[in-house]
Amino acid sequence: MLLAILAGHDVSLSERAIIGAAVCIHLEFKERVAVPLKLHIIACSTRPGRVGIGVAKWFEGVAVQHAKFASELVDLATFNLPVYDEPRHPRLQKYEHAHTKKWSASVAAADAFVFVTPEYNFGPPPSLLNALDYVYLEWNYKPAAFVSYGGMSGGIRAVQTEKLTMTTLKMVPIIEAVSIPMVAKQLNEAGQFTPNEAQTDAANAMLNELLRWAEALKPLRQAK
Ligand SMILES: Cc1cc2nc3c(=O)[nH]c(=O)nc-3n(C[C@H](O)[C@H](O)[C@H](O)COP(=O)(O)O)c2cc1C
Repeated sequence: MLLAILAGHDVSLSERAIIGAAVCIHLEFKERVAVPLKLHIIACSTRPGRVGIGVAKWFEGVAVQHAKFASELVDLATFNLPVYDEPRHPRLQKYEHAHTKKWSASVAAADAFVFVTPEYNFGPPPSLLNALDYVYLEWNYKPAAFVSYGGMSGGIRAVQTEKLTMTTLKMVPIIEAVSIPMVAKQLNEAGQFTPNEAQTDAANAMLNELLRWAEALKPLRQAK
């Protein structure tokens, strides 16, 4: 219909320009009201008695209030991933096991990730490294941010090592982060985490930057 109008002899050049501008505004509006990008907040510790789930729940609340992503808390423990047990390289996506297929679907559904990670022996928890190994293409071109916690270090040594692995998976780890030293002091008996002001500010700054990267990397994800 629009093409017919534009092709018609009785439409002046200026009218065509107006119609063209209206189409541009419409497309721009469509882009702006598009479905929000999907953020997965991954609780990386899987051990019984872990404190990380309380930290992850706090961050989920921040992300919901931030409201720029469609966010979801993903508890790695619920996937019960054994030590990597697929016979083929994950790049082939020829998965044999139900746990891999379920994990693959979860990772594939996200546009961006926040890893809520402890530090074990100055490094990442094996549960996270194992989960990263399980799939490959599903991680590609997605930004990653970190909420780390631990003792004095606030988990930052674990994060540095996690970033190295993630770049091999074609992820983009971002600089803005939340690190929580002496995490136990901010947890109550029920395992609920109470942030300080700096941590809440850092969480929001991180989400803002993560959104920019998630949007910027969208064409690369679509071209996969
Ligand atoms: C195997 C192991 C190694 C640890 N290594 C470190 C460490 O290197 N640095 C640190 O700050 N805390 C370390 N901790 C203490 C953890 O920060 C603390 O146990 C924290 O609660 C772990 O997170 P989670 O309870 O969510 O698993 C370690 C804990 C475990 C279980």
